Amino acid sequence: MTSVDTQFNNVLTGSPGDLGPFYRQAREESPVFWSEAAEGWIVSRYSDVRTVLADRESFGPLLEGKGTTSIYGRNVLHMDGIEHRRKEAFIAKHIRNRKLLSDSQEHYIRTLCKELVDELPLGDPIDLKGGFTTPMPLIVTAWIMDMEEATGFRTTYDRMVAASSSNQSGDPDILQDGLKAIEELHELITPRLMERRSEPGEDYISTLCEGEYEGAPISDAEILSSSMFLLAAGVETTDRALANLLRVLISEPELWRELQTNRDLLLPALAEGLRFCPPVHAINRATTKDASIGNQEIPAGSKVLLLLAAANRDPEMFD
Ligand code: HEM
Repeated sequence: MTSVDTQFNNVLTGSPGDLGPFYRQAREESPVFWSEAAEGWIVSRYSDVRTVLADRESFGPLLEGKGTTSIYGRNVLHMDGIEHRRKEAFIAKHIRNRKLLSDSQEHYIRTLCKELVDELPLGDPIDLKGGFTTPMPLIVTAWIMDMEEATGFRTTYDRMVAASSSNQSGDPDILQDGLKAIEELHELITPRLMERRSEPGEDYISTLCEGEYEGAPISDAEILSSSMFLLAAGVETTDRALANLLRVLISEPELWRELQTNRDLLLPALAEGLRFCPPVHAINRATTKDASIGNQEIPAGSKVLLLLAAANRDPEMFD
């Protein structure tokens, strides 16, 4: 059988297809292995991934090397400790706020979903991705930022994501294209940022403009990076998560009917969809000191790539 490392190279460079067999082989044969192509340690078992995520002392953000999100500029993803907690709180005001959800967000999102569904050509074959899963999170994220024009830039976010965490092999052409996409987004967001500095509103960019950390305002560069990150984080992930789940439900009509009759199953179905066919397969960390994962010693300053998709199908944890 081909070695796990060679299989992983194929995943990075080719069109990977079904990754299930590779994930199984990695978990069983080499749960923590070094990949020259990704210049990092690849981790696939549930227990190891969980241990790394819980240990923020030994595993921090990856700030340089292949596959880093640092190309957006510095934002909450690249922070630790108190700074991370404080700045995450600004973001949480807009995306994990129960009061805002019940006051306006839920109504807005329900109305939008209904409008999008009403526009689908019922009776004809329907493009659920183009007509629903892609526009929905894009319009919602642009609304959170009060930047309607951001809905016209969907492919730009894709190019940026492709050049960051998705570019684990560090392909220079993909990286260049992503950096160009970032320049385009700077041009889009900068005028809005200037506007909100002088006349803040209720939106996400305004909250960051008014935010302070250690007595100083949050810098323009950080707000730009945080805005680009929100567009990348909120849009592509949700689009893919919904599309993946709908695909399963369409091919399993029994499940679909069960969900229609028993609404209590909605949240577990979403969670199970995220576990079983996730939109994000892997995230990065870097060791802040010498550490170990399972029996493998990992020196300080190493990149660690956590294969969430492999961990979430680990039979040691899930049936
Ligand atoms: C199904 C949809 C989503 C998935 C699968 C997803 C996945 C993830 C993952 C894996 C991370 C951790 C990255 C890391 O630690 O390296 C993350 C962080 C984050 N995501 Fe999402 N995300 C989704 C939707 C969203 C949405 C809709 C938003 C905002 C509108 C969002 C905003 C964020 C933020 C702000 C962080 C950084 C949190 C922090 O560092 O404290 N995400 N997301």
